[in-house]
Amino acid sequence: MSRCLCPGSYDPVTNGHLDIIVRAAALYDEVVVGVLHNPAKRGRFPVEQRLEFITRSLPADLPVRVEAFGGRLLVDIAKELGATAIVKGLRGGTDFAYELPMALMNRHLTGVETVFLPGDPALEHVSSSLVTEVSQYGGDVTGLVPDVVRDALVARRD
Ligand code: PNS
Repeated sequence: MSRCLCPGSYDPVTNGHLDIIVRAAALYDEVVVGVLHNPAKRGRFPVEQRLEFITRSLPADLPVRVEAFGGRLLVDIAKELGATAIVKGLRGGTDFAYELPMALMNRHLTGVETVFLPGDPALEHVSSSLVTEVSQYGGDVTGLVPDVVRDALVARRD
């Protein structure tokens, strides 16, 4: 039984995230989507809502569990779950520069490996922060995030 962990803030989930989760599910028997939050910081969306967005946006028959974790090292979560790998998507060199030290640190701490999947080039420009800003100022983010997220972003406009 192979299990991987797809960690992130998912604040909110984008179609780029979902693409990586679905592709990870083709490589491992089970995927745990870890919604990591900093208990000291208020995110854009409450953690419960972030979990709901992901759960509602994934195909029901995928071997995926969606769970929240706060205030803990990723490596400890991976160990507790019995995850053999951390899976992350890379949109380009900037992502790689951000992810590489974390992958090396995580391997230094417990030996856990990080597996990088190339992000869908059609979604290279998509990030949680950018879609939030674009929607906030009236832009249409349809096709970049699940409809449930788009509707929630529209509902939050001032
Ligand atoms: O979606 P994000 O914000 O890029 O995800 C980053 C995240 C949450 C995966 C990363 O910050 C993380 O692993 N946080 C948990 C705390 C931890 O283990 N920090 C040390 C990383 S080497």
